[in-house]
Amino acid sequence: MVDVILGLQWGDEGKGKIVDVLTPDYNLVARFQGGPNAGHTLVFNNNKFILNLIPSGIFRENTLNIIGNGVVIDPVTLKKEIEKLLSSEISDVKERLLISKRASLILPTHKALDSASEKSQGDGKIGSTLRGVGPAYQSKIGRTALRVGDILTPLFNQKYSAIKKLHLKLLEVLNPGSVTEISEEEFMESIEYLKKLKIIDSESFIQDALSRGDKLLAEGAQGTLLDIDFGTYPFVTSSNTTIAGVCSGLGVNPRQIGNVYGVFKGYCTRVGNGPFPTEQDNETGEMLRKTGNEFGATTGRPRRCGWLDLPALKYAVQLNGVSHLIMTKPDVLSGMETIPVCTHYLLHDNQKINYLPYDLEKDIKNPIYNNMPGWKNSLSEVDSYNKLPTEFINYKKFIEDYVKVPVYAVSVGPGREQILYAEKGGIRV
Ligand code: GDP
Ligand code: IMO
Ligand code: MG
Repeated sequence: MVDVILGLQWGDEGKGKIVDVLTPDYNLVARFQGGPNAGHTLVFNNNKFILNLIPSGIFRENTLNIIGNGVVIDPVTLKKEIEKLLSSEISDVKERLLISKRASLILPTHKALDSASEKSQGDGKIGSTLRGVGPAYQSKIGRTALRVGDILTPLFNQKYSAIKKLHLKLLEVLNPGSVTEISEEEFMESIEYLKKLKIIDSESFIQDALSRGDKLLAEGAQGTLLDIDFGTYPFVTSSNTTIAGVCSGLGVNPRQIGNVYGVFKGYCTRVGNGPFPTEQDNETGEMLRKTGNEFGATTGRPRRCGWLDLPALKYAVQLNGVSHLIMTKPDVLSGMETIPVCTHYLLHDNQKINYLPYDLEKDIKNPIYNNMPGWKNSLSEVDSYNKLPTEFINYKKFIEDYVKVPVYAVSVGPGREQILYAEKGGIRV
């Protein structure tokens, strides 16, 4: 059985923490898309870890972690990440990390292309993390990518030189005269390091494990509104962050998918450019950023903040077939008199709609809010579900009634133990 954790907004919903919390129930945790543009934060035993490529199950000793075929891997980042975990005395990292032969590689020229492409867009730039992810997926779709399996063959250097030549030409077109030297020493060292890791045929490995009855948790990166097909295109990432990405990025079939855990914040954030209807580009947004410590885990950029957007959340729930909702960071909203929640959008012709229009930027005149009464007390110390304040329960119920899926768990702080499961009469539901 494969269960899935997905982000339902624009990323950074707290997926890493939730994966870490749920991992003890699984034998395998696997990333299926994205690359080192992801930044997943885990906090436990007074330590904070940020993972970019390694699945968030790595801290639980009995779990194997897989980087699936759908991921784009920067060997330099991977090596650094492994070394950091080893220096923090995380056990058996190399033994418990398996890498798909079919995963594509991010080359030094992909990173240069990411920067050059953003520069060439001027004001229209995406606000990419500049980790080379978009260009690496372009190579994959363009059928010129180098894959992890290639590094084990004698043709690797020849293929690398050919694709590098092509990229240098592209760079010259995007940004004439700017290409001087592409530094590749660290990359080549990291390729040698990668060769010694456990490189596997992950799709067969996963199918064998599943047929033995193993349980796999698939860890999404980014969020639904950054999906290449269903997100706020072109201000998106270059992979399917939604449920279909699990099948194509791991080689599992839809009938093997069980629970779909959709993670969302009690408000909204976005890092990078693109439409954000409920954004509060004002003191309120500043307050949310400060209280929620909303700064990018990968790039450190301040995240744009705003109110919960229910039409967008419902869209994400429907697209992914979410069976269990997990709300994070409502503790950040504590102490507010009222909490606005967007229920509809008003279009320029004054039509009121409750679905996502084609172009969020141009089509929407303004969001329409319902003001929910806030709760006074801090949530971060609440240690049982039935001690949550009534106003919070009403806020949660309003969301559940709108999207028609129950909230299974509420995260009330960054720590591993700060999680409350939905209970009825003291029993987990
Ligand atoms: P991810 O990319 O979805 O894994 O999320 P990030 O790690 O980029 O961002 C989530 C941030 O919120 C991290 O700093 C987490 O430590 C923190 N966090 C996660 N859950 C909670 C929560 O319930 N409350 C608070 N206050 N912080 C949380
Ligand atoms: P996690 O997994 C938030 C955003 C970037 C940019 C756009 C494209 O931590 O939730 P890219 O580097 O893919 O070319 O950037 O997507 N973005 C993220 N935003 N969380 C992420 O990952 C993100 N990964 C990419 O800021 O707007
Ligand atoms: Mg993140």
